[in-house]
Amino acid sequence: MKIGNDIYYVGVNDHQVDLFEGQYVVPNGMSYNSYVIMDEKIAVMDTVDANFKAEWLANVAKVLNGAKPDYLVVQHMEPDHAANIENFMKAYPDTTVVANTKTFTMMGNFFRNLNLDGKKLVVANGDSLTLGKHMLTFVFAPMVHWPEVMVTYDSTDKVLFSADGFGKFGALDVEEDWDCEARRYYIGIVGKYGAQVQKLLKAAETLDIQTICPLHGPILTENLGHYLEKYDIWSSYKVESEGVVIAYTSVYGNTKKAVELLAQKLEEKGCPKVTVFDLARDDMAEAVEDAFRYGKLVLATITYNGDIFPFMRTYIENLTERSYQNRTIGLIENGSWAPAAARIMQGMFEKSKNITWLENNVKITSSLSEANEAEIEAMAEELCK
Ligand code: FEO
Repeated sequence: MKIGNDIYYVGVNDHQVDLFEGQYVVPNGMSYNSYVIMDEKIAVMDTVDANFKAEWLANVAKVLNGAKPDYLVVQHMEPDHAANIENFMKAYPDTTVVANTKTFTMMGNFFRNLNLDGKKLVVANGDSLTLGKHMLTFVFAPMVHWPEVMVTYDSTDKVLFSADGFGKFGALDVEEDWDCEARRYYIGIVGKYGAQVQKLLKAAETLDIQTICPLHGPILTENLGHYLEKYDIWSSYKVESEGVVIAYTSVYGNTKKAVELLAQKLEEKGCPKVTVFDLARDDMAEAVEDAFRYGKLVLATITYNGDIFPFMRTYIENLTERSYQNRTIGLIENGSWAPAAARIMQGMFEKSKNITWLENNVKITSSLSEANEAEIEAMAEELCK
């Protein structure tokens, strides 16, 4: 696939991966993107996952058509992109590897036997490399998603090679909505680093970008304002859409009944959007994504071993470690004796900024009572305000 005049896509689709990065289900697979810029000097942009060595090297060789690459640009050392550096250098030993100091340190740690003496070009933030017609400028983007990450701007074709930025779950041979899987990817993987993404967006504002070439997901060529706007919302932790997320755990179905009643009342009152997640059974990453997408969250769980049910603990930790903030939260707790779940859940958000707590919460003792039904009615009323 050709992008612009001299840029070729040489990435691969992964439909075998069971859990991306060891934890994310990817029903439509994953793409590991890589690019070749054919100019007077030839640059290869990143490699791919270890399982795709042969396919990727064949893709590269086809584009090179007998020519020798001059540079391998390494923007990110995570193995989904960097696993084939050594294999590439075995195939093309005269290539110069272009990376920053942090990247070369990591490269030495990942590849103990790789000798790059005389084959390194160390770049600083803002440095440029001329290939002939194309001039590449390297912009450091630490913590989007690792500390060594840099993105690359080709001022000739106005292309931003954006590393993990603007990536999504899903292989390129499957058609699916960008926003949904890009949001789940962003919140899950980069969500903690909003401030660093904001910094990168500010740098991007100064560039004339017509194409975004990420390391995952489709190449973006049209309506770039849409993607930039989404990234601005997500990285500044703003509410993207009005709606209520209800996340619950239930052992014998009593807490679930409260959740179902609340969802029904919210719908009757015309709440714009209600999504419900059973944290023991539904995709945790999807439940985390929706908590960041919508403005209001209801957490429902039981007291368990003097704490809260494990899936709820994991869920809240997933939120707080990603800097969850600027949201409204309501609590439903259930306990047959010594209920403590509401207090424990609230305490877990102690360091979260700008959380508004609902005044109307629900305290169940074993099963729903008439008083609980009134509490749920009041909670629904307050959420719909
Ligand atoms: Fe796609 Fe952070 O690696």
